[in-house]
Amino acid sequence: MRILFIGDILGHPGRRIVKDALPLLRQELQPDLVLANAENAAAGFGITPALVEELLDLDIAVLTSGNHIWDKKEIYPYFRDQVNGRLLRPANYPPDAPGRGLYLGKTPAGIDYAVINLQGRVFMPALDCPFRKADELLRSIPEEVKIRIIDMHAEATSEKQALGWYMDGRVTAVLGTHTHVPTADETILPQGTAYLTDLGMTGPYESIIGMDRQAVIQRFLDQMPARFEVAKGDVRFSGVLLEADTETGRAISIQRILRRG
Ligand SMILES: [Fe+2]
Repeated sequence: MRILFIGDILGHPGRRIVKDALPLLRQELQPDLVLANAENAAAGFGITPALVEELLDLDIAVLTSGNHIWDKKEIYPYFRDQVNGRLLRPANYPPDAPGRGLYLGKTPAGIDYAVINLQGRVFMPALDCPFRKADELLRSIPEEVKIRIIDMHAEATSEKQALGWYMDGRVTAVLGTHTHVPTADETILPQGTAYLTDLGMTGPYESIIGMDRQAVIQRFLDQMPARFEVAKGDVRFSGVLLEADTETGRAISIQRILRRG
């Protein structure tokens, strides 16, 4: 089967290019399953229930997130009320946090799959251990669910690589998000897990990780609080296409996907 995973969709420019590019990409790449990280969909900070629905309406099966998931307060009750569970937050938040970090689904063709969302702890809030949380979640997934995709939302490359190697042979893919800069290290690890440190951002690249440059530079210069706006220039769609063996869950290929708006 083929899985398209879209990197961090950022603000209106990111949502726009997904809307524009996805129909053509579906024709070209023929994915059986489309997933996306959408924690920055609402003007770069969090996501609202309306934007969740907007993205799910594009036939994106599951939305993952990360540290920014709590930025829009409307998302708290949404997590409590959502019936389909298709918006995830990192699984290793303490158990009292609303929402879940694991989704079990079936493609229209009837292929079972699992999506796990985790968050790193290096240069990030001190959540529960993502490694042990991954172990725990894998134990809970039925044996027949072979396709298992992890979004590791983390700052440090080392932590993402460590999780990739730790999961090798146990999941189909470990894909990194959060840093917004696509990396060129896509690989299939020896036991069959596809790995990429960062999917890249789907949003404006003439920016500092998606935000207007001037305010970010100013904050580095004067260390004062500043309001960041989403940038506009050089909008790109960034993600990855995986091919996986549905019998074994092993990855067959991993290819970076980049489109310019
Ligand atoms: Fe993030």
